[in-house]
Amino acid sequence: MSDRPPCDCGCANIFGAREAQDDLKRYRRDGAASTTKALIEAIVAEGIQGATLLDIGGGIGAIAFELLAAGAVRAESVDATEAYTTVSHEEAERRGLGERFTGRVGDFVALAPEIEPADVVTLDKVVCCYADMPALVERAAERARRMIGLVFPRETWWNRVAARVLDAWSWLTRDPVRWRLHRPADIDRVLAGAGFERHDVSRDLIWHVVLYRRSAGTS
Ligand SMILES: C[S@@+](CC[C@H](N)C(=O)[O-])C[C@H]1O[C@@H](n2cnc3c(N)ncnc32)[C@H](O)[C@@H]1O
Repeated sequence: MSDRPPCDCGCANIFGAREAQDDLKRYRRDGAASTTKALIEAIVAEGIQGATLLDIGGGIGAIAFELLAAGAVRAESVDATEAYTTVSHEEAERRGLGERFTGRVGDFVALAPEIEPADVVTLDKVVCCYADMPALVERAAERARRMIGLVFPRETWWNRVAARVLDAWSWLTRDPVRWRLHRPADIDRVLAGAGFERHDVSRDLIWHVVLYRRSAGTS
């Protein structure tokens, strides 16, 4: 764990111990969320035997647990929410993962220089929590050797309305939490600049699931 405070995204205000325990219960009962499952399947299809994973904003650790079960050798999660990190450690212990799973609390953007690169980096519903998308995605890309998987909100009128309603609620309750609709084209631009090619996996009403593969000859 880091001795640095988590970021000021406000996530810790909405994801407390109860949410983390509820998410874990749901995951044990039903498996990963459908968009998370789609991302995991796309990554596994690329071949992950012996690969390492860095899961940014990993929550209860669903991606890490699934990829470790599918052949990844080691997974590290960095999450700004302490409750999620605590729960993911407990679950990793229950699964007997030992040192194959590590979790730290903190803002990945601040911690990035201390984080080891990994073959696969994931950001599942994380860029929408963070104001400085370019800093988050650029630093994530710098640590991704082979691919980087993202789940982020689609640019639709109904997502814009939902974001405004949530903004108004956060303003009223003086909560720093925002649901940030970064433009998909801007995310693509940052990742193309870092040498990654976009491959769409799937989408639902709210989310895009996208895998970006490192282009040949870039590092
Ligand atoms: C909506 S939750 C998603 C959790 C998990 N990936 C999932 O899909 O169930 C977003 C998570 O991202 C984390 N997060 C947001 N910005 C972060 C940052 N800059 N560094 C580390 N974690 C961050 C939050 O703490 C929160 O746990």
